[in-house]
Amino acid sequence: MTESLTALVIGSGGREHALALALSKDPSVVAVHVAPGNPGTAAFATNHPVAQEDGQAVAALAQEIGANLVVVGPEAPLVAGVADAVRAAGIACFGPGREAAQLEGSKAFAKQVMLDAGVPTAAARVCTTVEEAQAAFDEFGAPYVVKEDGLAAGKGVVVTDDREVALAHAAACQQFVVEEFLDGPEVSLFAICDGTTSRCFEPAQDFKRVGDGDAGPNTGGMGAYTPLPWAPADIAAQVDQVVIQPTLREMARRGTPFTGLLYAGLALTSRGIRVIEFNVRFGDPETQALLARLKTPLGAVLHAAATGNLDQVPPLEWGSGAATVVVMAAEGYPGTPAQGGQIITAPDTDQAHTIHAGTSVDADGVLRASGGRVLGIVGTGEDLAAAREAAFRQVAATDFPSGFNRTDIAQKAVAGQIQLAPYYSQEN
Ligand code: AMP
Ligand code: GLY
Repeated sequence: MTESLTALVIGSGGREHALALALSKDPSVVAVHVAPGNPGTAAFATNHPVAQEDGQAVAALAQEIGANLVVVGPEAPLVAGVADAVRAAGIACFGPGREAAQLEGSKAFAKQVMLDAGVPTAAARVCTTVEEAQAAFDEFGAPYVVKEDGLAAGKGVVVTDDREVALAHAAACQQFVVEEFLDGPEVSLFAICDGTTSRCFEPAQDFKRVGDGDAGPNTGGMGAYTPLPWAPADIAAQVDQVVIQPTLREMARRGTPFTGLLYAGLALTSRGIRVIEFNVRFGDPETQALLARLKTPLGAVLHAAATGNLDQVPPLEWGSGAATVVVMAAEGYPGTPAQGGQIITAPDTDQAHTIHAGTSVDADGVLRASGGRVLGIVGTGEDLAAAREAAFRQVAATDFPSGFNRTDIAQKAVAGQIQLAPYYSQEN
């Protein structure tokens, strides 16, 4: 039997709103706190100010409110070692410690772990000079993939056919990774991990580029949907076997076991599954769509993971339908977003709800944009077409004149236009 949980979610974005919402629906969770939180979480949970990258401050807050489960949302506090500080205070924490968080914090570290674990990923060269970049470009050919080594909120990657553009990005980075280009559709696969055992989510797909048709620069993510009608039915099991489990074994072997959410960003290429990147926390905005379909009470399973008891928890259960999230961003994102634009959200319905990501309430009680990604509009339905329609209906009912959104989230999937190369028979 799960004990009564008082949960504290660290972070202030759409992912944290969705996590807090799912926790609030778990009967074993008696109280939900969020720090710093946002106006969306204030509607049903208790927000607290906190310096979210200060481990001592987070641990002190958790003690003060009597939390027995802390969930660290974003990567920056994880890389800063906030989960270590919370655990050192004797409180169960869902999230990797500083060293295991390097799986996201350093692309070079992640590559080495994948190599040691035998996890399939793009061939890569770690570089520090333009000469090394030139050599790697010659080796791999176009399109060129250059990744800044370090946290860049999804914006440190350049994929281009233009060698000059690739070189310019390389020249602007201190250390960077040049990779072979991966063809094939992308999949986000999340696994809840307790150091040894994993429980995989259903797959989701994210839309990284800012514009319709995947035009423009990379962002943190402009929308997502789940499930993926075009993906192999057993994709989660395959990824668990060839990616998640080997990575957990390698991290444990190194003495830095991974507890928390391991997010594999994958390409299903003509040569098989390849890991594009690891993240060490729930993906944003995929989480907003995935949690709308998760039937397993979230608090109990996160607590089991945080305390090393995940093997006692059955596989996650999912609703039979689909979910789509459409991000409404402030004009200018991912550059300098216009701040302060007024927002009037649409009332939640059975098919759609609004997640806050970058909003604040001014002195007059008016909701305003205060970030790049401002809202996540989640639609659900019996299939992907219905979920997509529900989300865009709610977007149309949302009054946010200084915002914009992609209009093609989940469109190709609904139209049956996503093709998989027949990699299965060749590799598996
Ligand atoms: P990352 O920050 O590593 O997830 O990269 C951001 C995005 O760049 C990914 O979601 C892909 O769309 C793209 N990307 C990264 N690496 C590659 C690669 N090796 N081949 C093709 N596209 C890539
Ligand atoms: N959805 C991409 C990310 O969370 O990094």
